[in-house]
Amino acid sequence: MKAEIIFFSATGTTKNIVWAISRGLNCETQFTDITLPENRNKYRPIHSDIIIIATPIYGERIPRFVFEFIEQIEGEGRPLAVVSVYGNMGFGISLEQFETFALNKHFCLIAAGTFIGEHTFAKKNAPVALGRPNEADLAEASAFGRKIRRKLEDGSFDPIIIPKSKLPMFITNFPDRGTRFLIKQPAVDLSACSKCGVCAKKCPVGAIDSKTLLIDEQKCIRCYACVRSCPNFARLAKFRLGFFEPVFGYMGARKRDNRTFL
Ligand SMILES: Cc1cc2nc3c(=O)[nH]c(=O)nc-3n(C[C@H](O)[C@H](O)[C@H](O)COP(=O)(O)O)c2cc1C
Repeated sequence: MKAEIIFFSATGTTKNIVWAISRGLNCETQFTDITLPENRNKYRPIHSDIIIIATPIYGERIPRFVFEFIEQIEGEGRPLAVVSVYGNMGFGISLEQFETFALNKHFCLIAAGTFIGEHTFAKKNAPVALGRPNEADLAEASAFGRKIRRKLEDGSFDPIIIPKSKLPMFITNFPDRGTRFLIKQPAVDLSACSKCGVCAKKCPVGAIDSKTLLIDEQKCIRCYACVRSCPNFARLAKFRLGFFEPVFGYMGARKRDNRTFL
C-alpha cells in the first residue's frame, strides 16, 4: 500500500500532526510539502492508493492558495482523507470545502479529521491552544492513521458524514486573507536583523523581497513563517489594535477536542 500525504504547514503544527498520522498509517508514504512556492511549482502527481491532504485553517476555511493547488489533482475514484488543523477557534467551512472538492475531482472521501494546533497568534497573555498538539493529540492523530489503514484494508468506502457548519454568513463570506485586518504585517527590528534572508526563503507566498527583505503588504498572509524562522528573532508581528489580543485570548480559552469522521 502506498500513500501520498500533501500538506501545508507555515509554522510546523500541521507537519507534526501529519507525521503522527503517518505513523499510524504505517505504509510506504510520499510526503509532499507544499509550504514553499517552489515545491508547489515542481509538483508532479504520483500513483498512490490513498491521498491525505492536511492544512491549517485560516479565517475558518482552507487557505485559498492551498485550495488552488489541490484543485489540479484528479481523484480518478481514489480514496481521500482530509485533515483540518486549527487553532482552537473553529475549523469553519473547511470540511465542507473538502467535501465539495472530493465530489468535483472524483475522489472517494473516506475519512476526515479536525485537529487542534497551537494558534499562530498565541502569546503568553493570550495562550490559545499553547503547546498543542500535545502527546495525547498526537496519539489521537496516530489512531486516526490506523483507522484509515483498516478502512482501506477492509475496502469499505461508504461515504462519510461531514458536519454542516453553523457559522453566520458574515463570517463565511469574510474576505480571503481577512486576517490582514486583525494583524499588522511583521515588522523588522533592524538592530537584530543580520540580513541573512531566511525570512524571504521561508515565506510560503513569496511576499518578501530577497534583496531588500521588504514585505509586500498585499501578498502577506500573516502566517508567521518569517517570524518563527528568523534566527535572530528580528521579525515581530502584532495585533492591529491593542484590545484585539485580550478578545482573542478570551475567545480561544475554551479547550476544544480533536474530531474524526470515518
Ligand atoms: C492567517 C491565519 C488565520 C487563522 N485562522 C484561524 C481560524 O479561523 N480558526 C482557528 O481555529 N485557527 C486559525 N488560525 C490558527 C491556525 O490554524 C493554527 O495555528 C495552525 O495550527 C497553524 O498551523 P501550522 O503551524 O501548520 O502553520 C489561523 C492562523 C493564521 C496564520
